[in-house]
Amino acid sequence: MSTIAIDGSVVSLRHHAFTDGWRAFILSDSHLALDDERGGPYRQYSQRMAGGYKPAQAHWEQTLARAVAEKVDHLFLLGDMSSFPSEAAVAYLSRTLQDTGIAYSYIAGNHDWHYEGMPGSEIALRDEWCRRRLAPLYQGRQPLMHAETHGGLRVVLIDNSVYEILPAQRDFFRAQAALGQPLILLVHVPLYVPGRSIFFGCGHPQWCAATDPYWQIEGREPWPENGHNACTYEFHREVFATPELLAIFAGHIHKPSLDLHCGKAQIVVPGLAAAGEFMELRLCREPAAGQ
Ligand SMILES: [Fe+2]
Repeated sequence: MSTIAIDGSVVSLRHHAFTDGWRAFILSDSHLALDDERGGPYRQYSQRMAGGYKPAQAHWEQTLARAVAEKVDHLFLLGDMSSFPSEAAVAYLSRTLQDTGIAYSYIAGNHDWHYEGMPGSEIALRDEWCRRRLAPLYQGRQPLMHAETHGGLRVVLIDNSVYEILPAQRDFFRAQAALGQPLILLVHVPLYVPGRSIFFGCGHPQWCAATDPYWQIEGREPWPENGHNACTYEFHREVFATPELLAIFAGHIHKPSLDLHCGKAQIVVPGLAAAGEFMELRLCREPAAGQ
């Protein structure tokens, strides 16, 4: 038996097999726009995003300092930690995270790997820049999907920063769900829930070229003419039907929210860039029945 309780920015998960008191901060959308002379050749692709979120670096450093002061066990980063894949931003993220001495896990957001206006499909650009620039943040893990166990909780991280799910990612989630451990899913783009905007777009039935408001502004290919592939819908359906799934955590929207869909909680973490806000995850050991 596992339960979830949410009190402000603290999400507590209870299960008889959890390590009592294990804590993590879940950070998303810090949108650091650091750059230096190494970014010169890419300036035409980075200039729009370079202008936003002035307090981002201060919020990032304050949050890491708090994690150190509070001795949290882990940091989860849900993407858009940088606004474009500059060498300066990746080096800064990597160094400041390492300096905390706290273990961290990362999946990319749609801006982390994107230089606006660069030709190519979203999937090809993600593959290229995750490998070329973001590699240090993965610390040897597979960028598109990985999973780890913390304090008895299985944590599955899947990169859906192109909104779509690839067959290998669906299969990976399936295999993780089949383990039968209590688990959470971490993604960048929130999964579709009825009544939410098109940006809760992973599995959204209206997600397609005709509903893509930003492809020209963001200098990328529009979403596909015919919407999602079957695999994305299968993934969406299976996630919400996973008995052991305790919660989904996502970013991307910058505004915190909680939805219950098919009895599962999807929590959108606030954007760190604008107000320095984030979520905390706590594990609690619930005595098993009869104990
Ligand atoms: Fe995003």
